[in-house]
Amino acid sequence: MGLYSRLIFPRLLELSMSSESMTAYRKQLLSEVRGDVLEIGFGTGLNLPHYPKTVTSLTTLDPNEGMDAIAQSRIAKSPISVTTQLASGEDLPFADERFDDVVCTWTLCSIPNAQKALSEAYRVLKPGGRFFFIEHGLSDEPGIQTWQNWLTPVQRVVADGCHLNRPMDQLVKTVFDQVQVTEFYAPDLPKVMGYFYQGVAVKSPTD
Ligand SMILES: C[S@@+](CC[C@H](N)C(=O)[O-])C[C@H]1O[C@@H](n2cnc3c(N)ncnc32)[C@H](O)[C@@H]1O
Repeated sequence: MGLYSRLIFPRLLELSMSSESMTAYRKQLLSEVRGDVLEIGFGTGLNLPHYPKTVTSLTTLDPNEGMDAIAQSRIAKSPISVTTQLASGEDLPFADERFDDVVCTWTLCSIPNAQKALSEAYRVLKPGGRFFFIEHGLSDEPGIQTWQNWLTPVQRVVADGCHLNRPMDQLVKTVFDQVQVTEFYAPDLPKVMGYFYQGVAVKSPTD
């Protein structure tokens, strides 16, 4: 992992992802999470202060040790018991049906094989377990899609592998049958990076 990814990008991310509006989305998404929870792509830990009391333990995963270094100071102040792993969401080091809920915020854009990560999330969820997500991705406007396709190669370099043009609803629906998703533009972001998909997908109780 290069110096930019390890030292500079985590600090840029911390600044850009901690705005008031991003914090409001985090709080809203996390308000119903409960039990033994896994968060994929924990980054600098910006979700941590917003987990409700219904969360009994939190396991987090991110392959970037620079992110983990910043996250550790947040973990030290948290009342929640947190276990961190330096690993990829594409290959989760956990047993099948281990977690009650899985959380993923603005991370599927950066995982090289997002579909594999989603299949892994499905595998480690208990039957009836829920996958909570908020992601940016492919707009529903063809004109914006064109810009997103053009800009993605640049974005991948500046934002450490992030794609602007992934159809997040379709990706989640390839793995989960029961998916509720809302799509909207975040009003304070440029349209190319501010088309959000927020939702919850449920693992079939009979799997
Ligand atoms: C835009 S950041 C979002 C961080 C955090 N989820 C948040 O909401 O602030 C994307 C995160 O995905 C992580 N990531 C990149 N590749 C990954 C992978 N293969 N598996 C899991 N996380 C990954 C990055 O290290 C980074 O922390």
